[in-house]
Amino acid sequence: MNAPVVNLSGLYLREEILRLKKARNAIILAHYYQRPELQDIADFVGDSLELSKKAQASDADVIAFCGVRFMAETAKILAPEKIVVLPDLDAGCSLEDSCPPDKFKAFREAHPDHIALTYINCSTEVKALSDIIVTSSSAEKILAQIPESQPIIFGPDRHLGGYLSRKLGREMLLWPGVCIVHEAFSETELVKLKAQHPGAPVAAHPECPAHIVDHADYVGSTSGILQYAKDMPGDTLIVATEPHIIHQMEKAMPDKTFIGAPGADGNCNCNICPYMALNTMEKLYVCLRDLEPRVEIEEGLRVQAKKSLDRMLEMAAGTVGQGDLGGR
Ligand code: 13P
Ligand code: SF4
Repeated sequence: MNAPVVNLSGLYLREEILRLKKARNAIILAHYYQRPELQDIADFVGDSLELSKKAQASDADVIAFCGVRFMAETAKILAPEKIVVLPDLDAGCSLEDSCPPDKFKAFREAHPDHIALTYINCSTEVKALSDIIVTSSSAEKILAQIPESQPIIFGPDRHLGGYLSRKLGREMLLWPGVCIVHEAFSETELVKLKAQHPGAPVAAHPECPAHIVDHADYVGSTSGILQYAKDMPGDTLIVATEPHIIHQMEKAMPDKTFIGAPGADGNCNCNICPYMALNTMEKLYVCLRDLEPRVEIEEGLRVQAKKSLDRMLEMAAGTVGQGDLGGR
C-alpha cells in the first residue's frame, strides 16, 4: 500500500519534505522506533504518551505521523479537526492484531464486574470498548489510582500486564497478546552478553517477557529508558527494546556505548519492528505531497474511544479523584 512513487535521493528529498511541511502547515511526529532519518526530520520524537499529548496540543493543520497505525489513530481521536497522515497505512502492531474487537467485547461481557484497563497498542474499536487507556509510561501511576476492590481486565499485552501485577501486587485478568518484537529477545544470549560486559546495566521495556525483565536494572517506557541512559553512572548500557531508540542515545551521549540485547540467533535484527520499518522518507514525502493516506475514524466511534483516552490523560496528570473511576 502507498508504494513510493518518487526517486528523490538524500538531501533533495529532505529539503522537499521540509518545504512541503511548511506549505501544508504540518507537524512531523515520530516514535523512537522509526528509522534514524525519520527521527532526524521530525519536529518531535517521543513515546506513545508524549506523542498523544503533542498531537492534541499542536496548532498545525496536518499531522504527519511517523509511527504505527494505532498511534496515528490516537492523534486523530484527540485532534479530529486536523488531517492526520501516516506514511504507510499497513504499519500495524502485533498487539493490536491479537485483540479483535468482537472477541474483546465478548470477554468484557463475560466479566461484567471488571473494568477494562487497556494498553494504547490496540485498535480504536477496542479503545471504545475500554474504560481507561494506559501507555507504558503512565500505566503504573494509573493502576495505583484504581481502588484495590475493583476487579480489572488488562489487555492486550500480557507481559506488560504481568509486570504491573507483580510490581504492584495486583491481580488482573490478562488478555493473552504479545509484542512479537519484545518476545524475540533471548535470555540465554542476554546472560552471555552481560558476562561479556560486567557491570553494564540492562534497561528493558515492560513489553519484554518476565525472563528478560528479571535481568533488568531499569524497566520503563522508551522515554524512561532514554532518561535512564542519561542518568546511569556507567558508560555502557544493554538495551532490551527496539534498537532504533539507540539512535537518540548515541546522538545525546556520543561518549557512551549502547548495545542492543540479542535475539535467539545472537543477532538483534529480529528485534526491529517490521511495522515501524514500513515508514520511509519517500513515503513521508508522498503523504505530505498528496495528503494521503489519511487516518479517518467514524465520529460515533471516535467520541466513544476518546472517553478512555481522556481518562488516561487526566489520570496520568493526576487530576482524577478515586470516586471518578470505573464505568464508561
Ligand atoms: P512506548 O510508549 O514506551 O514508546 O512504547 C510504544 C511501543 O509500541 C513499544 O513497543
Ligand atoms: Fe507493536 Fe511491538 Fe512494534 Fe511496538 S514494537 S509497534 S508493540 S509490534
